[in-house]
Amino acid sequence: MDQFESFKAAQKQGWAHFAPYEAHTTPCAAMLVKRAGVRAGQSVLDVACGTGVVSVTAARLGARVTSLDLTPELLERARENARIAGVDVQWNEGDVEKLPFADASFDVVLSQFGHIFAPQPEVAIGEMLRVLKPGGTIAFSTWPPDLFVGRMFALSANYMPPPPKAVPPPPMWGDPSIVRHRLGNSVKDIHFDRERMTVPALSPSHHRAGAEKSAGAVVRMVAMLQDTDPEKLEQFRREYDALAEEYFEDNLVRQDYLITRATRI
Ligand SMILES: C[S@@+](CC[C@H](N)C(=O)[O-])C[C@H]1O[C@@H](n2cnc3c(N)ncnc32)[C@H](O)[C@@H]1O
Repeated sequence: MDQFESFKAAQKQGWAHFAPYEAHTTPCAAMLVKRAGVRAGQSVLDVACGTGVVSVTAARLGARVTSLDLTPELLERARENARIAGVDVQWNEGDVEKLPFADASFDVVLSQFGHIFAPQPEVAIGEMLRVLKPGGTIAFSTWPPDLFVGRMFALSANYMPPPPKAVPPPPMWGDPSIVRHRLGNSVKDIHFDRERMTVPALSPSHHRAGAEKSAGAVVRMVAMLQDTDPEKLEQFRREYDALAEEYFEDNLVRQDYLITRATRI
């Protein structure tokens, strides 16, 4: 297995526990679908769909939705979500870096906090643009490096073995100048919006306890440190809680993010 494949295999394990977080990503899904201007009858692809919050939101508007994710446990929950909502979605287990779709298949390609975890950003965005029709819309939600979630990723990375060389940190996708560069010259009309996710938490430590159970990278890191270095784990917990405290008010943690939208040329 090459370094990227083993990286993705580890991601798949970490994300298996993400389902409870859909409570937080559900309102953001409505925002992404709205910003992308999804309409009835459009063909929409949701990459790294997780439990399908964006997919189901788009399908409820009458779009024909196809979705893909690396993690089978989340796709199982996504199927249940579609069944409860009474919508049809085509679910696919797969990798955003190797989309199993023909060129120019979709009117809209979406990703909510998803494709940012692919280890080769230029490959992932190349695939997302390849399957998008000329004139179609690409839109995605991402975490800026200088705000809470981006800083939390950087903190967690300090406690983990380094990823394979040349895997850039996911929050680089939250920097508009990097996004422009990665989108390149096959899009026009790039537009940015800033939005806010608010996560209920009784204390900063409650927020951290939730991340330890459900946030991919943190789940893997805690599992590793629990056995190998419990003191280092305690130090991580102190640093996390201090960071979360900066964004904690009225039992909510502010998680501001970026939505990018652009038109395929
Ligand atoms: C933070 S979750 C977001 C899920 C969903 N979009 C949402 O907003 O609730 C990140 C998702 O990315 C998926 N993922 C990570 N790497 C991937 C890859 N290379 N290809 C496809 N999906 C991937 C994970 O399985 C996980 O479902």
